[in-house]
Amino acid sequence: MNKIGIFFGTETGTTRLIAKKLHKKLGDDIADKPVNVNRIVPAELLAYDALILGTPSYGVGEIPGRGAGCLEPNWEEFLAQFTAPPNLAGKCVAFFGLGAQERYADRFCSSLRALHDRFQACGAEIVGDWATDGYAVTHSASVVHGRFVGLVIDQRTQGMHTDERLDAWIAQIKPRLLEAAARVAAA
Ligand SMILES: Cc1cc2nc3c(=O)[nH]c(=O)nc-3n(C[C@H](O)[C@H](O)[C@H](O)COP(=O)(O)O)c2cc1C
Repeated sequence: MNKIGIFFGTETGTTRLIAKKLHKKLGDDIADKPVNVNRIVPAELLAYDALILGTPSYGVGEIPGRGAGCLEPNWEEFLAQFTAPPNLAGKCVAFFGLGAQERYADRFCSSLRALHDRFQACGAEIVGDWATDGYAVTHSASVVHGRFVGLVIDQRTQGMHTDERLDAWIAQIKPRLLEAAARVAAA
């Protein structure tokens, strides 16, 4: 697949909103419409070689789903469909996470790390880490070597920064994702 696939989990719709903004900014020519992982089987995601994956944070840094107290199926239920870890070598993946930094300052966007680690362990190339500047948090499992493992968004208290953050992040990840999509399409 030579387009970018955008997939998300959500409980209350905010991650969907950000996925839609990302899609609009990237454009239909290079990215397919965002899809909720609670509606798909693994093969639909695995069809893409360039992926943007989004998740909210629930629980104490778990992958969101019923185990983290969610009412809707989310990434946990999607990943449970895999009978064995897939080989993601050659795929390029960027992650974004939603969280609430004031209320959950000690675990801001921590679920993002759990999702990231799951895909990284399967051999995917990860792009799109993000500076911690501008966030007021005491701890996040998603910070590795001083940077978030993906773009983190707090739509409630920092929604005014979302567009500029998305634009800067897209400028960072787009060439890498397009390269991965083209590489595999040409192979
Ligand atoms: C019960 C509950 C637990 C939450 N836990 C966290 C958390 O641990 N860390 C965090 O940053 N945000 C946490 N949040 C905030 C959500 O991740 C945030 O509101 C997000 O935008 C929701 O995305 P969604 O609308 O796509 O589900 C929590 C919210 C609720 C209601």
